[in-house]
Amino acid sequence: MLKGKTVILGITGSIAAYKMANVASMLKKLHCNVEVIMTKNAVNFINPITFETLTGNKCLIDTFDRNFQFQVEHISLAKRADLLMVAPASANIIGKLANGIADDMLTTTALACTCQKIIAPAMNTNMYLNPIVQDNMKRLQNYGFEMVEAASGHLACGDSGIGKLPEEKLLVEHIVRSIAREKDMKGMKVLVSAGATMEAIDPVRYITNHSTGKMGFALAKAAMLRGASVTVVKGHTEAEEPHFVKMVPVKSAQQMFEAVKEEAADADIVIMAAAVADYRPSEVYDQKVKKSDGEMSIALTRTQDILKYLGENRTAKTFLCGFSMETEHVVKNSRKKLEKKNLDMIVANNLKTAGAGFGTDTNVITIITKDSEQAFDLMSKAQAADCILDAICKQKNQNPFLTDAMECRLHSNSVR
Ligand code: CTP
Repeated sequence: MLKGKTVILGITGSIAAYKMANVASMLKKLHCNVEVIMTKNAVNFINPITFETLTGNKCLIDTFDRNFQFQVEHISLAKRADLLMVAPASANIIGKLANGIADDMLTTTALACTCQKIIAPAMNTNMYLNPIVQDNMKRLQNYGFEMVEAASGHLACGDSGIGKLPEEKLLVEHIVRSIAREKDMKGMKVLVSAGATMEAIDPVRYITNHSTGKMGFALAKAAMLRGASVTVVKGHTEAEEPHFVKMVPVKSAQQMFEAVKEEAADADIVIMAAAVADYRPSEVYDQKVKKSDGEMSIALTRTQDILKYLGENRTAKTFLCGFSMETEHVVKNSRKKLEKKNLDMIVANNLKTAGAGFGTDTNVITIITKDSEQAFDLMSKAQAADCILDAICKQKNQNPFLTDAMECRLHSNSVR
């Protein structure tokens, strides 16, 4: 995911410095070239050899260290970097960077870096909330630095409060969001529905389906990485939620309808990946229904078809994409839905195809539009998501209602 990218990790003197070994290791697993610069104080908390072993690169500490190939190191490194993350960032480094002080390897490199810069502070709560530190952080933001908000919890000094370095995975997610993909969907609002709806029978039971929300979340993550502003209306799902997207949790088809209707009003692209119940129990009992001998039946009522409603009430600027899961006549049946619901695109998959459908991390999709059909081989849901977004962007570019600001481009390298 980060192949060909160089990330500089700037580590300062904080007990949280040990967590950065994990960050370096996670970045390496994403095929990123990781360069580590430590302040002299950071070396008191974790040995540079740890980072050298994990990254395969010399860990830089002092500007006047002569024990490496001659180059004006801080400049050459700054030129090669795609991103600099200072984490954990002490109050001291934040103060220095906010005021342009360059008195060691990390601060000189940071000043020379023209790439994106992320600061993840970690310090005692009172230091973090000190107006001087807060002002310095605002100042850095004004200079274009991205600030990762510190987490709250038990701190090493014994206090409890804000000031913890966020979990390693979140730091990596910040880096991935910044540099993993070109921001070809910047300026667009994408609405995705994901997961299964749950239709209550009584306070104990409900009707649902096998959808896990993985495909919807993959689409949301891919659009977010491409710079779109993403909202997910999510039904029941236990899949790992993507970061940096707005989540609107719902339970029933009716709740999903209301949430989608509201969010779709200003969306450029709506992708209905949720498995919405077509029927709900006609009556929802207040008390638990007791069993009795013999058969029992539940009367069902049709739910609102959300996508059909959107198709009937659409504006020219909104791109509508549905999903279609079939077990036979996949393309024919899906095309019928495309027409009936007045969609721009429908993504069909066959539940009976190995690797496709509910719960898997892979999918086998056919992208259908009014005048085209494109079948793809088995691929990960992340790759399928990119193929779907590429197809949407391509189609949207042919739409005369698309404004310049929303223009997005087809990237052949993302179709795998
Ligand atoms: N959908 C919806 N509202 C519903 C039902 C489905 O918006 N009440 C959306 C789904 O999110 C999906 C598409 O419509 O994008 C699927 O269409 P649908 O006709 O419901 O497909 P199936 O349920 O597979 O159709 P059928 O039951 O007729 O096979």
